[in-house]
Amino acid sequence: SKEGFDHFMLKEIYQQPEAIRNTIERRLDETGRIQLNEINFTKAEINAIDKVYIVACGTAYHAGLVGKQVLKNALQVEVIADIGSEFRYSDPFIDQNTLVIIVSQSGETADTLASLREAKSKGARILSITNVVGSSIARESDHLLYTWAGPEIAVASTKAYTTQLVAFYLLGLYLGRLKETIADNTYQARLNELKSIAKSVEHVIENSIEPAKAIAEKIIDCNSLFYLGRGLDYYSALEASLKLKELSYIHAEAFAAGELKHGTIALIEAGTPVIVIATQSKTYDKTISNIKSVKARGAYVIGITTSDHKDIEQVCDKAIYIDNKQDIYMPIISVILPQLIAYYTSIFKGNDVDKPRNLAKSVTVE
Ligand code: F6R
Repeated sequence: SKEGFDHFMLKEIYQQPEAIRNTIERRLDETGRIQLNEINFTKAEINAIDKVYIVACGTAYHAGLVGKQVLKNALQVEVIADIGSEFRYSDPFIDQNTLVIIVSQSGETADTLASLREAKSKGARILSITNVVGSSIARESDHLLYTWAGPEIAVASTKAYTTQLVAFYLLGLYLGRLKETIADNTYQARLNELKSIAKSVEHVIENSIEPAKAIAEKIIDCNSLFYLGRGLDYYSALEASLKLKELSYIHAEAFAAGELKHGTIALIEAGTPVIVIATQSKTYDKTISNIKSVKARGAYVIGITTSDHKDIEQVCDKAIYIDNKQDIYMPIISVILPQLIAYYTSIFKGNDVDKPRNLAKSVTVE
């Protein structure tokens, strides 16, 4: 049931703190360290892995993009993220030293499952992150990490996405410790920060309702909208624009903020809404320059950043501040407002937000 919420999607957005807590807390042993029971690598086996592919579709692929960065840092090997429908036809280099990580809420997506089978037949080890116990993907994998999101009813994925991110953070810390690429004090500090994320998500949801409604009203009649970001913020922008497209039917595109000037900036006209996610310290200043160049072409710019970046107000029409966490964790925090913007734009337009047109919850055709 919707338990007092107007729609499943809103209920599921609000369930994110609990889903995140469940995904983490069930994995902590009595000493408070991460224990992943269905992941059975020995130290020698993890040391032998020399390449990782992450394969998924849609929102799960966006989680995989963040996961790529997390695992690159944790394992110090090459990590490639690919789309389920492309991976098999891309002649991937796979052998027994390749780890293929499959991400799927339903565990039944046809393109993703076919990728799993292909990789397995070439000798790769398969590790899956899925939300459905006993799903096809779960059954056919060597290693498993369940997200504890609970059933996701709304077609648009919200709590499955944020718990997939958490799964990657847990996996990175766990494998990094096993491989000894992450020092123990770094491990403790990152794990403590991860444990504090659910509380911040709660806070960000509360603080995002009014801004999301105001932005929804502002963008409701636009023909086209851009989400910009760099690095991890770009991946959040991809997820943000997918949510907006599938629910509001507004044409929304995500661009790496620095790439816009290589063509796409031609689309910016007076009043074009541009929502910029700017949370990553490495690229913050460059992102500000990118904002200035769209502003100069007349864009209406909304900046989403952390409260230590008040200077963003000088270059944006509207600034929204979200909780500040270590950069690697910001994708969980950054996606909340875009989820709510998509939700309110959809309902203000009178769309069926839980069942958007042309879409099914589980895509079982290739
Ligand atoms: C978008 C959405 C889809 C799914 C995709 C993969 O909101 O829900 O993009 O993420 O179809 O589905 P799963 O994760 O079940 O493999």
